Amino acid sequence: MANRTNPQAEAMTDRNLALELVRVTEAAALAASHWIGLGKKNDADGAAVEAMRKAFDAVAIDGTVVIGEGEMDEAPMLYIGEKVGCGGPKMDIAVDPLEGTTLTAKAGPNALATIALAEHGNFLHAPDIYMDKIAVGGGLPEGVINLDDSVASNLRNLARAKKCAISDLTACILDRDRHKELIAHCREAGARIMLISDGDVAGVIATAMPDADIDIYLGSGGAPEGVLSAAALRCVGGQMQGRLMYESDDQIERVRSMGHADPRRCFSVGEMAKGDVMFAATGVTNGAMLRGVRRRPGLATTHSIVMRSHSGTVRFIEAHHNFVQKTWTPT
Ligand code: FBP
Repeated sequence: MANRTNPQAEAMTDRNLALELVRVTEAAALAASHWIGLGKKNDADGAAVEAMRKAFDAVAIDGTVVIGEGEMDEAPMLYIGEKVGCGGPKMDIAVDPLEGTTLTAKAGPNALATIALAEHGNFLHAPDIYMDKIAVGGGLPEGVINLDDSVASNLRNLARAKKCAISDLTACILDRDRHKELIAHCREAGARIMLISDGDVAGVIATAMPDADIDIYLGSGGAPEGVLSAAALRCVGGQMQGRLMYESDDQIERVRSMGHADPRRCFSVGEMAKGDVMFAATGVTNGAMLRGVRRRPGLATTHSIVMRSHSGTVRFIEAHHNFVQKTWTPT
């Protein structure tokens, strides 16, 4: 992944790095877990951000946050452009310390702490605006989905590729007023819909997890979450397209200033997350893919996933944290 000369040492460093990433998402999830069900989404988010920022200090990278908590003047930590890590290969980092702040506040499903890592210049730079998204899992013919096609046509092509009827397909969509038309078109075409209240990173990843029974992800959500989802799908071979959506000319200018010559173009999964990508997530609350943090006095158990596009390896890690033996206690 990084530019080193000894391939064995390089492989070992990269492997360690993948595990270091899980430590970082674990720290964020543990911190956020104190706030599950307490109705305080900002406190939950703040705790996750602080814990993730602190955990990065022990990671051997020269990292730059490219997808983070916002612009430097609006986010005190993990803002776009912030340097993290204690030195090492030059890496770009996409983070969402708590994906699903409201889910955490309401003890809803699928809240995650997430990170993706790639060599410098490999993530799409996207501000905190909306992105229109479409995604499917792996093993399907290239081009089976197209953001510019109608919902009916995408569902027809997907059903053909999966050798099933449209009525056998389930689409995952965020339950939002802005999706009324999309939901209506999906229903007219005959597909089933799983409406989720929040958490589209988990929704997109679910398309690539056979047990989740989601065939396609449709609709708009956060652009930063779109890049994180693309990073995850790169590791498991899914397809995704995203297009940034604008509510003002200022947003278009901001995107131009981030280096996009054509702010309205449609990005493929490989354009949103290029090269060798690592992705890690730890469950905060229970979900289809990951169990949430479980706590007992002095102990906590976390459940994480770590994957890498170069090898295609997907690891699930259950960690038992003993705070009695540790010299520090996560907040
Ligand atoms: P938070 O973590 O900020 O609560 O965001 C959760 C989320 O549901 C994302 O998964 C999704 O991309 C975005 O919010 C959708 O935004 P909106 O709630 O404005 O539709």
